Amino acid sequence: MDHSTGYESVAQEFLARRGRTPCTGIGAKEVRSWARGLSPKSSVIDIGCGPGFPLTAILVEEKLDVFAVDGSAAFVAAFQRNLPGIPILCEPVQTSKMFDRTFGAALSWGLIFLLKVEDQHRLIQRFSEILVPGGRLLFTAPAPPCSWIDVMTNLESVSLGADEYRKLLAGAGLTVSAEYEDEGQNHYFDAIKSGRNEQQIQRSSDAGTGKGF
Ligand SMILES: C[S@@+](CC[C@H](N)C(=O)[O-])C[C@H]1O[C@@H](n2cnc3c(N)ncnc32)[C@H](O)[C@@H]1O
Repeated sequence: MDHSTGYESVAQEFLARRGRTPCTGIGAKEVRSWARGLSPKSSVIDIGCGPGFPLTAILVEEKLDVFAVDGSAAFVAAFQRNLPGIPILCEPVQTSKMFDRTFGAALSWGLIFLLKVEDQHRLIQRFSEILVPGGRLLFTAPAPPCSWIDVMTNLESVSLGADEYRKLLAGAGLTVSAEYEDEGQNHYFDAIKSGRNEQQIQRSSDAGTGKGF
């Protein structure tokens, strides 16, 4: 059973291209800058981490408290060689317990658009569930709604588009604070989970309009 949306079967090819060196390459600058904006020693989970090079290694280098999950056994084995001692689960994100805990931040680079639409909706909900109030989320997906064939796996990828992602994030209590693109034209959604005070304000205004009943 494949829990990696086709990546397990192209793991060696992927490792030869992207998984060889830590902390450099596409996305490194953006993830470094995001990581530096987190509170020192924050807990952060890399969801769909691949082999841990290049990006998870940046979180480790920034001295964050790092956790990771990926559905490919080959990538998890490479991750354990690359970043020994960093906790990782080999699980599909659709059913992963994600360590059964909350985090100060979550990174998910190059994953969401690989999933079926209903799984994308659910993952956005999960992002929110595993973040503490005020927690930060960074993920990538193309800004225009589109579908295409993944060059590595030959499977269809689907971006719901920035408007829809923003709407789903808002519905899950996550506000997009910034969007930007890297040198590889990957589009980043940098979001924050509503703080406790905002949630309380929202709940009392819902009660006032009768929406909570
Ligand atoms: C494009 S790669 C990105 C890897 C890594 N984030 C990076 O920056 O190099 C997508 C990753 O998502 C993982 N993946 C795909 N579908 C998954 C699923 N349903 N559950 C868990 N991991 C999945 C793949 O195994 C692969 O490591």
